[in-house]
Amino acid sequence: MSTQVQNEVLKVIEDRHSVKQYQVGHTIPKEDLEQILTSASLAPSSWNLQHWKLLVIDDQAQKEKLLPIAYGQKQIVESSVVIAVLGDLEANKNAQAVFGPAVAGGFLPQAVMDTLVAQIEGAYQYPQVARDEAIRNGSLAAMNLMLAAKALGYDTCPMGGYDAGKFVEAFNVPARYVPVMLISVGLAATPARSAGRLSLDQITVSNSF
Ligand SMILES: Cc1cc2nc3c(=O)[nH]c(=O)nc-3n(C[C@H](O)[C@H](O)[C@H](O)COP(=O)(O)O)c2cc1C
Repeated sequence: MSTQVQNEVLKVIEDRHSVKQYQVGHTIPKEDLEQILTSASLAPSSWNLQHWKLLVIDDQAQKEKLLPIAYGQKQIVESSVVIAVLGDLEANKNAQAVFGPAVAGGFLPQAVMDTLVAQIEGAYQYPQVARDEAIRNGSLAAMNLMLAAKALGYDTCPMGGYDAGKFVEAFNVPARYVPVMLISVGLAATPARSAGRLSLDQITVSNSF
């Protein structure tokens, strides 16, 4: 990777801030939205099970419905689109779709797939594992999504401030999925203030506690 690309990636990371004020009425071009969603899907995931479902809410009436559920946070209705990142509690069911083509293409021996599937099914006997995996891997997709949006000139705000139960009910989210977070995406009306961070000394431990 060239030094220029490295610097650009680091700049996107550094420049991403949670933006709460957006240019109202702006529509993200379809190709940009698809790029953002594709970049989200490129996140790593346990066993590559891709434990995410992205509910794209761009209809204004649907955003108005979401507004009270998200405790009146204005970015819901003022941003171009709100993407609800959902975690898949039954991502074990994706194994065939994920590994099948590799087996069919001769890249993965059937015996290896069988071992992986047995491992996955063993882990998914435990609801806590399924939930942890859904939230963990869904969060990685969410981060990719926010950085891709920033790279394309948009801003985002991740939101955990909403009533997940009411959200599930209002948007008919199947029991298979757990809400991870909402993310508003759009053009910033006002640049966000940098929120500041703890120092490296405060957040790192060397080798062992
Ligand atoms: C899981 C999660 C939930 C959040 N929930 C909200 C929220 O409901 N409303 C909001 O305005 N910001 C929310 N934020 C944004 C944080 O306040 C913000 O990320 C933090 O202050 C750091 O600022 P920065 O994102 O600009 O670097 C959330 C962030 C995360 C990661």
